[in-house]
Amino acid sequence: MVDMVNVLGIDTSCDDTAVAVVADGRRIRSSVVLSQQSLHAAHGGVVPEVASRRHLEAIRPAVGRALDEAGVRLEDIGLVAATVGPGLAGSLMVGYNLGRALALGRGLPFAPVNHLEGHIYSAWLIPPSGERTSHTGEAPEPALPLLVLIVSGGHTELVLMGAHGVYQRLGGTLDDAAGEAFDKVGRLLGLPYPGGPSIQRAAAALPPGAQAATLPRAWLRGTDNFSFSGLKTAALHLTRATGAGLDEREVEAIAAGFQDSVADVLATKTAAAAAKHSVRGVALCGGVAANSAVRERLRAALPQRLPLHVPPPALCTDNGAMIAAAGYYRRGEAVAPSAGGSVRPNLALPV
Ligand code: KG4
Ligand code: ZN
Repeated sequence: MVDMVNVLGIDTSCDDTAVAVVADGRRIRSSVVLSQQSLHAAHGGVVPEVASRRHLEAIRPAVGRALDEAGVRLEDIGLVAATVGPGLAGSLMVGYNLGRALALGRGLPFAPVNHLEGHIYSAWLIPPSGERTSHTGEAPEPALPLLVLIVSGGHTELVLMGAHGVYQRLGGTLDDAAGEAFDKVGRLLGLPYPGGPSIQRAAAALPPGAQAATLPRAWLRGTDNFSFSGLKTAALHLTRATGAGLDEREVEAIAAGFQDSVADVLATKTAAAAAKHSVRGVALCGGVAANSAVRERLRAALPQRLPLHVPPPALCTDNGAMIAAAGYYRRGEAVAPSAGGSVRPNLALPV
């Protein structure tokens, strides 16, 4: 390959210290994610000061492991990419500044990456095993225009991607992000943090034949927007209706009903937007894309001929590989590390 480039990708936007090496923007050579989950679980959510301090301790070992596992040395890296925002300021600074320092030390170009664009480029990644979500066994590059649904802890965005780096925002949540709703309802139900995987587990434990709770759907017809706060309130009322604490079966029924409502609305509205904009494919990205009900519903709602790109669950949640991929496709705009500026906690997707 003419311009084979190893990109070192770093993400410390929230509570995972993530570093990866990706070749040519697509092939993962290593992906290390040091989770802080157990550190924050007792608080039921991420504590920013705790997160940034932990990133400081973990970032150097994470870089070392990512290089080792990829079988490369810093000399073999052609570009350093790190998340510039959005995210927690103190957390972002750790990965961003280390990335700049590494690039500076080796005279490498540096690509500041938008975390949301990173999630989009997770659809381009090819895991080291060669394992693919596609049935062809090949790893086709997503064709453009592509409709992208980003559903994470902080964002729910429906985006039309016309070309690399060119986005049109169709809509998004008017209140809670989808992942935020999972986390809040998880907490209501007394399930461990983070709520997303806990709710998926509880819903799956509902015995066959048992009824899921009926929860509302906010359709916001005629728009590509979403709303999850009413659903969250409805779940709250259900938890209170029983008076005494919920038993296990009731928790499972509410979890299943909640998950069903989120998956239904996300799938139905995304499929409608795909039809309206005659896209050549759909990508489902972000932590909530790891949810099997959301994945299955969306596949079922789309016409069979339309490719759906869904990364394996480990690449849906935050990782360094997606940052490396996005950095690779923006390598034309890479800067000298000394010119990288500062982190941008409130950065939006460039539209
Ligand atoms: O993309 P991500 O790792 O971090 C952000 O950029 O926010 O997303 C984290 C979110 C959390 O809200 C978490 O509860 C949710 O993704 N999540 C899930 C699942 N796995 C993670 N939600 C539903 N089902 C899952 N299996
Ligand atoms: Zn994320």
